[in-house]
Amino acid sequence: MNFLLLGDVCGKSGMNAIKSKLKNIITTNKINFTIVNGENAADNGKGLTKENFNELINAGADVVTTGNHVWDHKEIIDTIEKEVQLIRPENFIEGLPGKGFHIFHSKEKKKIAVINLIGNVFMKKSRDVFESAEKVINRIKLKTDADFIFVDIHGEITSEKMALGHFLDGKITGLVGTHTHVPTSDTKILENGTAYQTDLGMCGDYNSVIGMNKENSIKKFFKDKDAKKHFPSTGEGTLSGLIVEADKESGLARKVTRLIIGGTLVQ
Ligand code: FE2
Repeated sequence: MNFLLLGDVCGKSGMNAIKSKLKNIITTNKINFTIVNGENAADNGKGLTKENFNELINAGADVVTTGNHVWDHKEIIDTIEKEVQLIRPENFIEGLPGKGFHIFHSKEKKKIAVINLIGNVFMKKSRDVFESAEKVINRIKLKTDADFIFVDIHGEITSEKMALGHFLDGKITGLVGTHTHVPTSDTKILENGTAYQTDLGMCGDYNSVIGMNKENSIKKFFKDKDAKKHFPSTGEGTLSGLIVEADKESGLARKVTRLIIGGTLVQ
């Protein structure tokens, strides 16, 4: 089984790249299941609207994960309560709408669990990410409850994501980081068979400051009075993510390939 995981879709550049390229990538690489982080898919680069969610699904995503910006467009509350294909971090404070994980049934009659988590370091207050990960993984066991399990950990710092990867190594098919909008080159299969990459990077315009207009961002750092609120850069978007080939018997990773297509990033 082949899985595609794409990093944070950022603004129109990211959405346009998804709409124009994703179906072709799925066909060419014989992808069976696609997980996309839609955290920044809205035109303003923060959160996502119902329309963005529908467009991501229509473009080929099977699941849309999120993160700290999920509630930025209030209309998404209604969507997340109705649509199982849209999830938010499991370890958000209790009582918030939506779910943090779901077990999906693929066309191949395989059960695929997708879990969304959010980091604790340099992020807004949420429940302990390691304790929450342990709790979920005690509920969803590989080969018993799901044929494949993937985790999207939306976090700021590398060490937290790496430690979580090792903690879950051998218990899940793959763990990828999102949120920083910069892809890391530590793509690998961990010792016990879990696919891993600290951050997938974003799907968006890399001629920018993490997807936002670079001139304005520099002004902001200079505390220039003319600086506006951050707004997305609108050049050609790069799609950035990971392809995981997983073993049907063990549910673990066999091969990992970084995917970088279009825009200004070296491929
Ligand atoms: Fe984020």
